[in-house]
Amino acid sequence: GRMVRVALLGCGTVGGEVARLLTEQADELAARAGAPVELAGIAVRRPDKHPELPQHLLTADAAALVESDVDVVVELIGGIEPVRTWLLTALRKGKSVVTANKALLSEYSGELSEAADAAGADLYFEASVAGAIPLLRPLRESLAGDRITKVMGIVNGTTNFILSAMDSTGAGYAETLDEASRLGYAEADPTADVDGYDAASKAAILASLAFHTRVTASDVHREGISGVTASDIAAAKALGRTVKLLAICERVTADDGTESVSARVHPVMIPRSHPLAGVGGAFNAVFVEADAAGELMFYGQGAGGAPTASAVLGDLVAVARNLVLGGRGPRESAHANLPVRPMGQT
Ligand code: NDP
Ligand code: HSE
Repeated sequence: GRMVRVALLGCGTVGGEVARLLTEQADELAARAGAPVELAGIAVRRPDKHPELPQHLLTADAAALVESDVDVVVELIGGIEPVRTWLLTALRKGKSVVTANKALLSEYSGELSEAADAAGADLYFEASVAGAIPLLRPLRESLAGDRITKVMGIVNGTTNFILSAMDSTGAGYAETLDEASRLGYAEADPTADVDGYDAASKAAILASLAFHTRVTASDVHREGISGVTASDIAAAKALGRTVKLLAICERVTADDGTESVSARVHPVMIPRSHPLAGVGGAFNAVFVEADAAGELMFYGQGAGGAPTASAVLGDLVAVARNLVLGGRGPRESAHANLPVRPMGQT
């Protein structure tokens, strides 16, 4: 019978959990997908450093694995090149792609989704924003009949971990960052987290989906937390407030009725009674406002190996079902083309 063959690119914090769950839950995944989901190969940079993985599946040649007889490519390496080239190759050959790579998507989702649409392949990326939290599927599918006006929240676990620790214990910035890296939350280069690049990438992805337009990371006004000091936190506390790094994406209507989109990331002093104030550790929380739905709140673990792997596996089951049943996931190429305000000005 049919089998869904998966190439796993990258087997680090997230990929390692995906490989584990794919193996441990093979029967359940097969039942839900409608066919066995088989790991056909695992590409890593240094195969000799992975004695824990099935040796016959390991390769250092990701390009060759993508070109081999696989149906789906799951990309958990990160960064732009060479990953962009590999994923375009896969999509152009009609292979579906699941990725958690917000850095890539926030610059090249247009190119990638056009390649997917042209070849009739799927492109799923739930894990790229807010880890385990089902957020992109609701924006793309559940709310497809509504008009979203605002998406706002905490989308970076590392900075939230640091700000929460600074608030509750007065812990130092550097030691908390080390802890976030040890727990697998921080990016390989933690400046992506602390300087707000990671949150800006996520804001671009959220704004693109929510407002059906193309927003890239460079459109997002960005300010990180490296300038936030212990005395800023103490001052906020004295005012009954706390500091959170927020991503804020809005649909803006000018006096003449023309609409545009604004996206920004910066630290905000919020009242301690605000629901976002209680979001601690590597948790994320996002509010979505839509005309008919009103206000929605999404909350859960936004970083780390297992939580992120949960979202990756959900995407993999969706893609496998589409392959088995002959369907397709949501498409992105139909755009409202709302203008994006330069650097998030409102
Ligand atoms: P890691 O650094 O832990 O893992 C990266 C993996 O990619 C490693 O297995 C590495 O191989 C492999 N790799 C690197 N370069 C190559 C190459 N040229 N060819 C083949 N394999 C390569 O990263 P994470 O698991 O933390 O992150 C992966 C992706 O998931 C990124 O896009 C990240 O932004 C995203 N993400 C991460 C989250 C997290 O909490 N960690 C949460 C949400 C998204 P080797 O093992 O040999 O070094
Ligand atoms: N480095 C990211 C974070 C991982 O801390 O939120 C999740 O995308």
